[in-house]
Amino acid sequence: MRTRPFTVSAFLAISSLLALPAAGGAQSSVAQSQLVRTAAPVSEPLQATEAFRSSRYHLADPYLRFYFRFIAPNLGLVEQELTDLLWERMAEQFRAFVGGTAFEELCRGWTLAQARAGTLPFLPEIVGSHWARDVQVDVVAVNWRERAILLGECKWSVDHVGRSVVCELLEEKTPKTLAVLTDRGDGWTVRHMLFARAGVTCQDCHMPPTGDTYFALPEVGRLEHLPERIPSHLQRGASDVELLQNTVSMTVSAEQVANRLRVTVAITNTEAGHHVPTDFPGRHMILEVMATDGQGSGQSWEGQALPLQNGPVVPEWGGEYAGQPGEAYAKVLKDVVTAESPVVSYWKQTLIESDNRIPAFGSDVTVYDFLIPEEGGQINVEARLLFR
Ligand code: HEC
Repeated sequence: MRTRPFTVSAFLAISSLLALPAAGGAQSSVAQSQLVRTAAPVSEPLQATEAFRSSRYHLADPYLRFYFRFIAPNLGLVEQELTDLLWERMAEQFRAFVGGTAFEELCRGWTLAQARAGTLPFLPEIVGSHWARDVQVDVVAVNWRERAILLGECKWSVDHVGRSVVCELLEEKTPKTLAVLTDRGDGWTVRHMLFARAGVTCQDCHMPPTGDTYFALPEVGRLEHLPERIPSHLQRGASDVELLQNTVSMTVSAEQVANRLRVTVAITNTEAGHHVPTDFPGRHMILEVMATDGQGSGQSWEGQALPLQNGPVVPEWGGEYAGQPGEAYAKVLKDVVTAESPVVSYWKQTLIESDNRIPAFGSDVTVYDFLIPEEGGQINVEARLLFR
């Protein structure tokens, strides 16, 4: 008869310990064994976590987790040294297994290391994750006193992270998580992070494959390549309308507050891997917001413009848009010698006078109050985002 290696019998002892019924006493003995870790959502205030309101239990040690997932159920294969078959069974589930716990833990560990090194935008008091009935956020770092929270998503998939992941994090998970914070997230600063196995590279956006399958022409020794291995060298950038039009998303909402119409415009940089606008400092993104009384032909830009009571206007350097309700996004440079501003001569000695460009995943929200005409009637609201 074969004898089982020592480690295996030790694991079996642990496995019987873990199989204890989940009564109070049994749980504490499992916890005391230090093999099991209890975790509570970090989105609950620190004192509340003591009560383990929504606690979860998991095996603390990644090796044990691996053992119980892949080895224990396949001991027969191990004993008979049917390793190829064992590997086949494991391979089916291995990626999901890593994505399920290990990768998320690494991401949280990385965030904690960054927190210690002081490279995060704020110093978190706690790093963990958040879960509730309707939402799960893999990496969450919180500073309760400063009311700052960082929400991160981890993706351990072969595909690159696409727009839908970003939108889900920003538009669904973020509001659901904010809702459980103090004052339902009011006054909190929110930051986002994305962790991905496949990642997003500069080339994904700027050098997407065109479907070509060769570099050299056939007559000079063409060699067939996989199309995804031939990135485009056209370097699409700000001159590519399609790329530009898919860089940011905008939401516009309007509500009546007494005799005013309050328009809120949020612009989110969902698609660029860096600030927008980027590159040459003479590039601007200009937001124009307009409310009209609908007396025109029905086109919102043709009626009588309602006066702006409160809210930002495009600055003077906005040129033809200057003074219009709206906002201009740019990195504004000032010449050190002549004190002129804005200048685009970044090759001379300049200082950054202001920079309100929208960072990757960042949002900018502006609010405009327009005076509603006494006679009432239909009002049209339009927001346009221009890039120049
Ligand atoms: C998720 C998509 C995405 C990724 C990733 C990305 N960019 Fe961009 N990039 C854009 C978009 C969209 C624009 C056009 C908007 C703008 O100019 O602000 C742009 C514009 C630029 C421009 C200006 C190009 C021009 O035509 O003048 C430069 C330079 C640039 N990116 C460099 C980079 C570098 C370097 C990286 C990697 C660190 C990178 N980008 C990653 C989307 C991306």
